[in-house]
Amino acid sequence: MENKPSFIFYVFFLCFSISNSICFGGDTIYANESISGDQTIVSSGENFRLGFFKTGKASKYYIGISYNKVSTQTLAWVANREHYVNDKYSSQLKILNGNLVLLDESKTVVWSTNVKSTSSNVQAVLLDNGNLILRDGENLKLWDSLDYPSHTWLPGGKIGTDKRTKRTQRLTSWKNMEDPSPGLFSLEHDPEDSRYLIKWNRSIWYWTSGPWDGQRFSLVPEMRTNYIYNFSYVSNENESYFTYTLYNNSIISRFIMDYSGQVKQLTWLESTRQWNLFWAQPRQQCEVNAFCGAYGVCQNSLPFCNCLYGFKESSEDDWSLNDYSSGCKRRTNLNCGNTSTVNGKKDKFWMSSDMVLPANSRSVPVKSAGECESACLSNCSCTAYAYDNKCLIWTGELVDLKQHSGSDGSGDIYIRLASSEFSDGKNSKRIVIGAVVGVVAVVILAGLVLFVVKRRRLVKTTKPEGSLIAFVYRDLQNATKNFSEKLGGGGFGSVFKGTLPDSTAIAVKKLEGLSQGEKQFRTEVSTIGTIQHVNLVRLRGFCSEGIKKLLVYDYMPNGSLDSHLFKDKRDGVLDWKTRYQIALGTARGLVYLHEECRDCIIHCDIKPENILLDAEFCPKVADFGLAKLVGRDFSRVLTTMRGTRGYLAPEWISGVAVTAKADVFSYGMMAFEFISGRRNTKQNADGSITFFPSWAASVTIDGGDVLGLLDPKLDRNADIEEVTNLCRVACWCIQDDERARPTMSQVVQILEGMSEVNLPPNPKNQLKFDR
Ligand SMILES: *[C@@H]1O[C@H](CO)[C@@H](O)[C@H](O)[C@H]1NC(C)=O
Ligand SMILES: *[C@@H]1O[C@H](CO)[C@@H](O)[C@H](O)[C@H]1NC(C)=O
Ligand SMILES: *[C@@H]1O[C@H](CO)[C@@H](O)[C@H](O)[C@H]1NC(C)=O
Ligand SMILES: *[C@@H]1O[C@H](CO)[C@@H](O)[C@H](O)[C@H]1NC(C)=O
Ligand SMILES: *[C@@H]1O[C@H](CO)[C@@H](O)[C@H](O)[C@H]1NC(C)=O
Ligand SMILES: *[C@@H]1O[C@H](CO)[C@@H](O)[C@H](O)[C@H]1NC(C)=O
Ligand SMILES: *[C@@H]1O[C@H](CO)[C@@H](O)[C@H](O)[C@H]1NC(C)=O
Repeated sequence: MENKPSFIFYVFFLCFSISNSICFGGDTIYANESISGDQTIVSSGENFRLGFFKTGKASKYYIGISYNKVSTQTLAWVANREHYVNDKYSSQLKILNGNLVLLDESKTVVWSTNVKSTSSNVQAVLLDNGNLILRDGENLKLWDSLDYPSHTWLPGGKIGTDKRTKRTQRLTSWKNMEDPSPGLFSLEHDPEDSRYLIKWNRSIWYWTSGPWDGQRFSLVPEMRTNYIYNFSYVSNENESYFTYTLYNNSIISRFIMDYSGQVKQLTWLESTRQWNLFWAQPRQQCEVNAFCGAYGVCQNSLPFCNCLYGFKESSEDDWSLNDYSSGCKRRTNLNCGNTSTVNGKKDKFWMSSDMVLPANSRSVPVKSAGECESACLSNCSCTAYAYDNKCLIWTGELVDLKQHSGSDGSGDIYIRLASSEFSDGKNSKRIVIGAVVGVVAVVILAGLVLFVVKRRRLVKTTKPEGSLIAFVYRDLQNATKNFSEKLGGGGFGSVFKGTLPDSTAIAVKKLEGLSQGEKQFRTEVSTIGTIQHVNLVRLRGFCSEGIKKLLVYDYMPNGSLDSHLFKDKRDGVLDWKTRYQIALGTARGLVYLHEECRDCIIHCDIKPENILLDAEFCPKVADFGLAKLVGRDFSRVLTTMRGTRGYLAPEWISGVAVTAKADVFSYGMMAFEFISGRRNTKQNADGSITFFPSWAASVTIDGGDVLGLLDPKLDRNADIEEVTNLCRVACWCIQDDERARPTMSQVVQILEGMSEVNLPPNPKNQLKFDR
């Protein structure tokens, strides 16, 4: 309360006596000014705002730079990461002795730019790229916030080493989702090998980009065709660093070292008011070093961390803020080494099965499981052992335990616990009574836990996460009102609309004809789950309960492309610009599948039914990865397609090995339909068949009237160059010889106008089509 009068006076004083720019949001703090309370400065193009921010519920305030055009508070930079202030009204950010400083309520300097300068008339200016600079009266730059990044790498910022000052610029994660103080994870430049490393606690690295080869990082091939970031590496006698610029400055995109231990690229989508995850490394949460702390067990789906049996969270507060690094602690101390322990009670071992074993084990030359157990028991600092024809023991805290998933080697590990964690056979009477009470308590507790877990999970599903959610069948049954609203029936099973309790709309696919066992299913599904791109439908989760196998995707409000492309009515027809964007987006999605995933994924079933449209008509390729999962019966597809060649490349029929070029063929076929607005093959009234691509190819090659090929519903309303481009690309794509077809990234370059496309040869298979 003491502060209040002075604060009111203060604001009054500020607004009254000094430059208006502070009160009305200019971009500069002049030498005679300061900001306090809710005052902010805003960059000239209004991209960024600087002021006091609160990042959690507690009243801890930080000077930060936030994205001004983003509706959920997102900080790109924090000045006083380690020293918050409690009262933003009596704290001040001001120029003092040639520096920008933050004074707390007792006028103590808690943060300063710390430059040595004798210049007067120093000012701080917030630039439109998010850089806060300090300059003197001669316009000389004294200090840049870009040189002191927090967890966000802003365009133009450098991550590297200044050889003159020996200073390293790294990104450091926040401690947790609410605390901007430096966390355990950092993204650093490795001057030896011109590569990036993600380090844990500034020491152990667990991810590397691989070296820079002039265009990309060897282990991050997906950076090659990146439409948002232009990365470059600079190394000279003074400094070496990586930097990047945005190709299009009106796209709001950020690159962060997340508190999850992953580097993430996110792009703001105003339509959904969310940061959309573009890319994350390492892909799997459990690849992050010691993510769940000591005695925590990591799994690659929510909740990522659990405690081993006999242990509980070291800090429930930290865990609830998604910071698991403090790990777990024993519920009961070990008996070993405790001199006051009576009855000679010894420790026992609890088996945890199907675990990926931590690395720092020591092997003991004994020949049986029993001897291995004794070896561990005899040393109080031994915490676990495993025996699989050889004896391994662990001493000290157990870190990096992972639940087995996919193809990692796994085994059983025996964890040392106090014997009281195990039921004791001697006092049987007490145990029976105890058991009855216990069972009742457990039932009640289980109900409670289930309730809490369920609520937690439902809340958590709303968060954008890199990993998949394992759904319970009954929940999906409820979400889809017992599978009542069918959206479509694709090649792999029917799709139903559903709504999660948090009102997120989902599409649930019931898989049919699965040819794989449980283990392969989970492996395949988790592979599909890591594939994320704006032009691919995102898999949110799955359900696997015996024979019931379901996949849960984001719901796409505008349905599939065929329903828009092939409709007879003129109203609501897709205009040319939209069609061209759909063609381009689809191609980009395929580039990602073909070239930028860890293993090349051939879609095998490109057709308008598998191109979904979101609320903005942004195309999303659906059903990728399923051909492998379900094992398609292509012979059946072929026989049902007699007469209409549809979208299938000739190699499907000739029986030679199918490559990504088969998708290129299908894409070309579909591209013709973007132009004509009707199916390629049309049965005429007299029973003869017209094949649009043949006609379109001859018009294109002869330099005829390409606008005449256009969907009549468009009334020749299109950019003739784009139509010509798409016609030519489509002709190239449907060449019989797959070597003559372009790759999808060449298609993208042509459609983007980045490279020229020659006149195509007449597709050789034209005659066959006409048959
Ligand atoms: C503060 O300094 C700026 C620039 O030197 C000047 O334009 C402004 O009038 C000054 N304001 C006051 C209240 O002195
Ligand atoms: C990180 O390293 C420092 C010493 O460099 C050590 O004191 C600290 O305990 C480590 N943090 C964790 C979580 O292990
Ligand atoms: C990418 O950045 C480099 C280095 O800053 C620059 O020379 C090049 O012109 C940029 N490329 C594009 C397409 O903006
Ligand atoms: C390195 O620094 C020196 C002194 O600051 C400067 O003269 C020189 O041009 C710099 N070299 C490069 C490649 O920037
Ligand atoms: C940049 O992005 C904006 C918003 O997405 C778009 O309207 C604009 O056309 C783009 N500019 C260029 C040159 O691509
Ligand atoms: C030793 O055992 C006694 C009795 O079981 C227990 O109360 C005490 O906390 C133990 N001490 C340590 C250091 O574990
Ligand atoms: C127990 O194991 C630790 C770690 O390997 C070792 O340093 C210690 O000497 C052992 N103690 C005994 C009593 O063997």
